[in-house]
Formats: sequence, C-alpha cells, structure tokens
Amino acid sequence: MLDRLPAQSPDALLALIKMYASDPRADKIDLGVGVYRTDDGATPVFAAIKAAEGQLVLEQDSKSYLGPEGDVGFVHALMPYIFGSDATMHGRIEGMQTPGGTGAVRLAVAAAKKAGISRIHLGTPSWPNHAQILADIPVEAAFFDHSTPDGGANMDAVLAVIHDAVDGDAVLLHGCCHNPTGIDYSHEQWDTIASAFSNSAALPILDLAYQGLGDGMDEDAYGVRQVLGAVPEALVAYSCDKNFGLYRDRVGALYVMAKEPEQLGAILSNLNALARASWSMPPDHGAAAVRLVLRDPAQTELWLNELASMRERIASVRTHMAAAGNRVGPLDLAAVGKQKGLFSTLALSKEQIVSLRDDHAIYMAGSGRINVAGLHSGNIEKFIDALAAVTA
Ligand code: LMR
Repeated sequence: MLDRLPAQSPDALLALIKMYASDPRADKIDLGVGVYRTDDGATPVFAAIKAAEGQLVLEQDSKSYLGPEGDVGFVHALMPYIFGSDATMHGRIEGMQTPGGTGAVRLAVAAAKKAGISRIHLGTPSWPNHAQILADIPVEAAFFDHSTPDGGANMDAVLAVIHDAVDGDAVLLHGCCHNPTGIDYSHEQWDTIASAFSNSAALPILDLAYQGLGDGMDEDAYGVRQVLGAVPEALVAYSCDKNFGLYRDRVGALYVMAKEPEQLGAILSNLNALARASWSMPPDHGAAAVRLVLRDPAQTELWLNELASMRERIASVRTHMAAAGNRVGPLDLAAVGKQKGLFSTLALSKEQIVSLRDDHAIYMAGSGRINVAGLHSGNIEKFIDALAAVTA
C-alpha cells in the first residue's frame, strides 16, 4: 500500500534551511525562513522568555493534560494586545491555544468549512502554507492580486472580492507585515476594507502572525480591530512564534468573534472537537512562558522593549536598503524602505535567485522573498553588491 504514495518535494521554504546549513562558504547569507536575527546574525531567546522559563521550572508542579483549548490563561492574557481595551467585544470573542500560527490557520479553515464556507479568497502572493492548508483541508481557494506592480496594496482587487462575495465565501487577509511582500494596508485602507466587510456576505479570516514587528503592537492590530468592529463574525489566527521568538515551541491561538456571546459555547465546542481530532492538545511550554511574561508588568515591559528593538533594527535595515537603490538599477529598493515586517519580495528572475545562491552564497525563497532581518551591518553591503552584480 504505502509504496503507492508518490514522492513529494520538500516544502521549498523549509528545504532552504538545510541547503543553507550544508553550504561550507563562510560568508554565506541566510535570507530564507522568517526568523528574526540580531545584528550579529543570531536568533536568541528573548530575555523575558528566559526569565519566564526559569520561573516555570520552579512553579510548575504538574505536566498533566490541560485539554484541547490549551492554556486558557495564555489565550486570555493576549486578548487586550490583539483586540484593545474592550478585549472581548462585549463577551463576543473567545479563543483557544493552537500549535503555532499554522495550527491556528488550519483550525480556522477547518472550522469555517464545517460552518459552510466552501471557498476562501486569498491575495497572492501569500505565505505558501496558506494555499497548502486550503488544499489539504480541502476547501476551494480563489486568488486575487494582493499588490500592484508599483508596490502598493491592490485595493481594487480586495474590495471587489469582498463586495462580490456570496454566502459560503471567506476572505483571508494578513493582519500586518504581509508575508511575503511587506506591503501592508494603510490605516485608511483598513477603514475602507472594514466598511466593505460590513456590507459583505464574506466571513473575514485574519492571520496576525507578526504583531509588533511592523509599527508597534497597537498599530499592527489596527486592521484586525477595524474589521472586527464592522462585522458580526470573524476568525483571527494568531502566532507568538515571531513576536515572542518561540518558533520551535509552536505557540499560537485561534480567536472567534460570534454574533452573540451565547453562541460562543457551541462554536468553541466545534473548535475543541476539530483540535482533538488533529493534535488533541497543543504543546504547553511556550504558551505557559508567554502567560508568565504577561502576568508580570516588569517582564511585560522587558518583552515590549525587546520587541521594539527588533522592530527598530528591521526598520534600519530597510532604510539602508532603500538608500542603496541607485546602486541596483532595475530593482525598486526604495519600496523596501516603505514595507513592513520581516519580508520584502524583490523582482528577481529564477536565474538571478540561483546565481545569488550559487555564485554569492545568498539564500532566499524562490519567489524572491527576502527575510530582511537576515541582513546586518556585516553582510548588507555584500548583499547589495551581489544584487547589483546579478541584475547588471
Ligand atoms: C516563513 O514564512 O518563513 C515563516 O512563517 C516560517 C514558516 O513556517 O513558513
């Protein structure tokens, strides 16, 4: 039986991690998978998380099961950061822990399908795993252009999709720090999108995986808050893998906003059942550490300061890239300066991307996506020179 399974190619993004690791060249540059790096190229554990982990070792007296909803204290502690001062929208929002943002998106899509969603609109390019999850559930994916050729958000396309949606449609949007383009909606554009949703049959599914890495925790939640303020129901997939640096600990949550508070119980019972049949219960450690950080004002401040320094470093790399625009004629590096979060997508051909890897030891996704945080004072000039060489 099992030999009937055709070989699958490895996930292109994850395969890059291994390719990079096996490259012996000392001056290699990793701009592949989305992890934050310091100016030394390291991805350290946050000091606030280290302290919380120490505390956890001392305090935790059992590792007995919690249940499919995971660490409810963690789920609730995040809510004011995501949804603002009325963190439950008058009791209409509740959530559960998931294994990372991927688990949250998967649970959102599975629950939406169970509720009658048969088609999900997705702006492209998108995080490749979005389309993979839709195909695997499966639910029909319909695509629209996320961005315009001049590097802006394609408002006409997203508004048309929201406007034309029929019962059974959902629209999946990135809450901030768009992956892979870095092209976010401005606050005015979110206002327009929220108002379009208020007259639409579409269920909004918002993926907020990079909160705090764009303009700030509140600023990056603007779109989510505007859309939720305008619609009766929505799903919000959340990840702490980036903004708490917990990548491999897989820390995420799925939030649901219902029309009425009394509907939440039944909806959550479905999320619980889906989670039980998928992973049963999410891994505990990282979520418990986040809960400990957020219950202590001093640790919370330490975390927010660490996040702010990451955001500032990413912005300074972007400014450096934008300033080098005239050295790399055909590429619009000025746009990189305006984009947000870990990623930007450079208009490079497949051949140029292969040449960057083979001739310059620079690794990036096949789409031309770069992890901006992979650049630092020790490698950014080499990167710009290599871009100039391959595009000359
Ligand atoms: C990325 O896009 O690089 C990250 O979100 C990591 C992942 O899981 O793909």
